[in-house]
Amino acid sequence: MAHSVSGHLKLRVAEYDELIRRLVPAYPAMRPVQLDLLALALPDGGACPERSRRVLDLGGGTGALAAAIAERFPGATVEIWDTDPEMLAVSRERCAPFGDRVRYVERSFTDPLPPCDAVAACIALHHVKDLTVKAGIYQNIHAALRPGGIFVNADTAVCATPALRDHAFRLWAASMRPHGIGEKEACAHFASWAHEDYYPPLITELRMLADAGFAEPECFWREAAAVVFGAVK
Ligand SMILES: C[S@@+](CC[C@H](N)C(=O)[O-])C[C@H]1O[C@@H](n2cnc3c(N)ncnc32)[C@H](O)[C@@H]1O
Repeated sequence: MAHSVSGHLKLRVAEYDELIRRLVPAYPAMRPVQLDLLALALPDGGACPERSRRVLDLGGGTGALAAAIAERFPGATVEIWDTDPEMLAVSRERCAPFGDRVRYVERSFTDPLPPCDAVAACIALHHVKDLTVKAGIYQNIHAALRPGGIFVNADTAVCATPALRDHAFRLWAASMRPHGIGEKEACAHFASWAHEDYYPPLITELRMLADAGFAEPECFWREAAAVVFGAVK
């Protein structure tokens, strides 16, 4: 069955933007990091005389990242790939001001991807629990990107080493405290999300990107469990 955000996070989709900032307090900090990296593959605001530059937003949800990309890169088009029609409906509303520069693709990000200049994802790919499937996504991304194109993923990555793993979750829980979520509630969230989420160690992610063909996968930014990583093709 397709992933449903309202089922997974136990929320109404309209409340998503507010809630995600309480559950993943690093969320807003990751956005400018992603945008600055996307700029490497989208010079001149994404303007290109021959064609519109194309960015894919995998698991784009309510369209917050896609809207930020469309605003920062007026010459680019953004495709939001998401399997949840409720989330896509919200993104349609949010991104309406960008007209046909934002497109909505109700399809799994595990499917083959079209040729593009950049691929972004924000706290979406952790829904892939099977590393073989994730490796396939990274291969598809590598195949879709033009040389010089960039993949930038903002997500969570947690060490498998027990002491470091516990430390990462402790820091994550502590970051929720100012947002009114105590440690007990945070731990209950982690346990509940574990049914559908997996945050592979960063080294595993980078190795999978290297195996997919990227020459130099890199961690661009990190704060406790939150991480922005990727690679240029
Ligand atoms: C936690 S939300 C993140 C949304 C958005 N990227 C953001 O930063 O706010 C994860 C999104 O991934 C989508 N998703 C989960 N599995 C998917 C799949 N296989 N293909 C496409 N989208 C998927 C969900 O529907 C959801 O909208």
